[in-house]
Amino acid sequence: MAPEPITRRSLLRRGAGAAALASGALGVDPALAAAGDWRLGFESLRKETRIGRLHVEGRLPAWLSGTLVRNGPALYEVGERTFNHWFDGLGMLHAFTLERGRVGYANRFLRSSAYEAWKKEGIIRYSEFATDPCREIFNGAQATFSLAKRPNANVHVGRLAQHFVALTEVGMPVRFDPKTLRTLGLAGPELPLGQMETVHPHRLEGGRRIYYEIPLVPPTSYQVKLARGLRKPQRIAQIPREKPAYMHSFGLTERHVVLTESPFVVDPLKIITNWEPFIRNYRWEPSRGANFWVIDRRSGKVTRLEADPLFTFHHVNAFERDGKIHLDLCGYDDADVIDALYLERLRGRRRPSPLAELRRYELDLGRKRVRMRQLAEPTLELPRINYARVNGRPYRYAYGISVRDYRTSGYVDQLVKVDVRKGDSKVWREKGCYPGEAVFVPSPHPRREDDGVALSVVLDARRRRSFLLVLDARSFTEIARAEVPHHIPYGFHGELFRA
Ligand SMILES: [Fe+2]
Repeated sequence: MAPEPITRRSLLRRGAGAAALASGALGVDPALAAAGDWRLGFESLRKETRIGRLHVEGRLPAWLSGTLVRNGPALYEVGERTFNHWFDGLGMLHAFTLERGRVGYANRFLRSSAYEAWKKEGIIRYSEFATDPCREIFNGAQATFSLAKRPNANVHVGRLAQHFVALTEVGMPVRFDPKTLRTLGLAGPELPLGQMETVHPHRLEGGRRIYYEIPLVPPTSYQVKLARGLRKPQRIAQIPREKPAYMHSFGLTERHVVLTESPFVVDPLKIITNWEPFIRNYRWEPSRGANFWVIDRRSGKVTRLEADPLFTFHHVNAFERDGKIHLDLCGYDDADVIDALYLERLRGRRRPSPLAELRRYELDLGRKRVRMRQLAEPTLELPRINYARVNGRPYRYAYGISVRDYRTSGYVDQLVKVDVRKGDSKVWREKGCYPGEAVFVPSPHPRREDDGVALSVVLDARRRRSFLLVLDARSFTEIARAEVPHHIPYGFHGELFRA
């Protein structure tokens, strides 16, 4: 028997109540919402809203002010179609404004070309991470890369010169106004066709940043660059590669840049001729092993160290001690995690793959030897550190999302703070709650590395709502929370912007 279509009347008949109706109006599957299920975080949110003042439980530190802007996909259904992958959804910005103990909230879709095509034509017009555009628009090589004038920059946010920007790996940064969340346009000229760039550049003093680019049209290479604002960058190193790897972030010490090259690689000729969306051109080729490309920041000298196959999205931190580089990252044995994040799997009954381990790779440049060890027991992803104080230097604490036990948990169900020196960890968790990235914010006059707060947007699936959680970073216990009257789909990254 075909399932009954969900209407206002059928909901009332089922006794689902006002909350389910409200969530239905927001585009949430009411049956799912009623279940208090973690999968609610992979349901679309269509409504844009602005709330002057959220109810706050607890008390925010008086010094905590600024706007926490979070980025992530929020809409998965376009016309008759659904995006394939978590990373494909139309990007939405969420702003939590913190001032004198009060919290305001606003959300707004990024006005990308993909968003405009949804609104005006009701179609997927541009290629995303793992989804093709409509077949009638499909045009061979051109479809491989998003030709969107304004990309669906749904991954991260940052500052670029005087601009606030939303970031994606395959398109220019998109400027937005952090007060209104209005989309303002591209920050600079368009990237050349088929160029990949990290959304995790490393920030240096004086508005400078170090980042890499990977042109995916032959001749392909890893290009490490140093730039100040929007000025023309200086190239530190270029590493030609016939089959470049997928990379999402990299490590930086006071002397070196470290690129982690997994054996998840693409043949650039195929990416041009294949009619496949971006990530489906990549292949796991473990016989290639992994490489750490260590680049001297001053001279540009490149050293290669070989290692067993691994995959990573996120580097945590890196530093040098006793002639070795200590490179901490969220490591996987292979790239299966990308397949595990297809929506069909995330929304299905099958459990996702286990989350990353917090690993330390010791790179001995003299002996050209690599050693790996796991730093702590809990899984950890979307890592954050006290960046301004310890990035590139010896450090002690990493914060991230985690899963307590995949045999009993369906999804990310806790936040962890790991002492990377001792291997100890502290945990925040609450039944039915599924947290996102924890952004560390230092207190104004810190004495210790962990003096500050950690800010995370948490889905309370049973209440069908999300809330901003404020943890005291030292004790890793709750100080306050501010609830939003709807769910916020799981996102990726965010920053606290201060005036
Ligand atoms: Fe990331």
